[in-house]
Parts: sequence; C-alpha cells; structure tokens
Amino acid sequence: MKEDKIKILFVCLGNICRSPAAEGAFQSLIHKENLSDFFLIDSAGTAGYHDGELADPRTREVAKARNINLTHISRKFIKQDFQRFDYILVMDHNNFKTVRSLVTDESHNRKIHFFRSFEDGQFKNAEVPDPYYGDLKAFENVQNIVESASVGFLKFLKSEHQISSNH
Ligand code: 4NP
Repeated sequence: MKEDKIKILFVCLGNICRSPAAEGAFQSLIHKENLSDFFLIDSAGTAGYHDGELADPRTREVAKARNINLTHISRKFIKQDFQRFDYILVMDHNNFKTVRSLVTDESHNRKIHFFRSFEDGQFKNAEVPDPYYGDLKAFENVQNIVESASVGFLKFLKSEHQISSNH
C-alpha cells in the first residue's frame, strides 16, 4: 500500500446520482489498470438530503449493468474535506458555487475542478447534468459521461504524478 495516496473527492448535490456514479466509474477504471493502491476515493453532496442512503436505485442499476457495484453511503460535503482531499471534482456550477463558498484558505481553491474539464474534447466547465428528475436514459447519459471523464482525469493524473500502468 502506498503512503502518499492521491486523494480524490467527487461532489454533486445529493450524493446519490452523479458523484457516486463518478466514484464507481473511476474506481473501476483504476482497478482495471491495477492502479488502485495509488488512490483514495470518496464522494459527497453539497446538500444532506439523502445522508445515510445508498445511491439512487437507478444509478445503481445503470452501474451494475457495467459491472460496477455501488456501495457508497451518501454524506454531506464538509469544510474538513478541503484538508483531507487533493482533488475536489464538482459536477455542475451549482456544486462549484457551494463548494467555493466553504473555502476558508485560498490554497483550497486550486483543488476544485469541474470533472468534465478532464474529458477529451472541449468540455471546459461543462456540467454533468442532474438526472434525478429524468428517466433511465438520463442516468445512462450520466454513466457515459463519468466513464469518459474518468479516462481523461486518470490520463491527467498519470502525467501530473508520473504514474505508469506498469508501475
Ligand atoms: P445528484 O442528484 O446531485 O446527482 O445526487 C440529485 C439527487 C437528489 C436530489 C437532487 C439531485 N434531490 O433534490 O433530492
């Protein structure tokens, strides 16, 4: 086990749809690449509406179809997360605003990124759309986005932290 893990927190509003999906997609990707030991991963929501709950059944169903088993229990984002994590990946502008409003030290600001800014293509500051009031297709769309953004994010991290797949 590596001591100096790279600590990543995925953040959305309710922590039952987008951020657990992102957490699961990224976990699955690093597991496939045999890089799990390099990372500590978690997710949280800016609202505590669903504290203590598993991810939404639709999020879990769509992930399960891709062989991803989501076991995360929803929790609210707290200020201490700025100390505990190196990268805070937000899903939309609303999450970004809320997380920014909790910053107490200027150094925290550079930890906050839009998850889709790492997706290949021109998605700078693009959002992962909230699927909560949508149909299963909206959840499939989220799953596709978080998988594609995970690939781009891992590529960035490998380069930034000199990690190779055959470490
Ligand atoms: P999430 O989706 O932020 O992707 O987890 C939502 C989950 C719950 C609610 C809104 C968005 N809600 O209003 O309860």
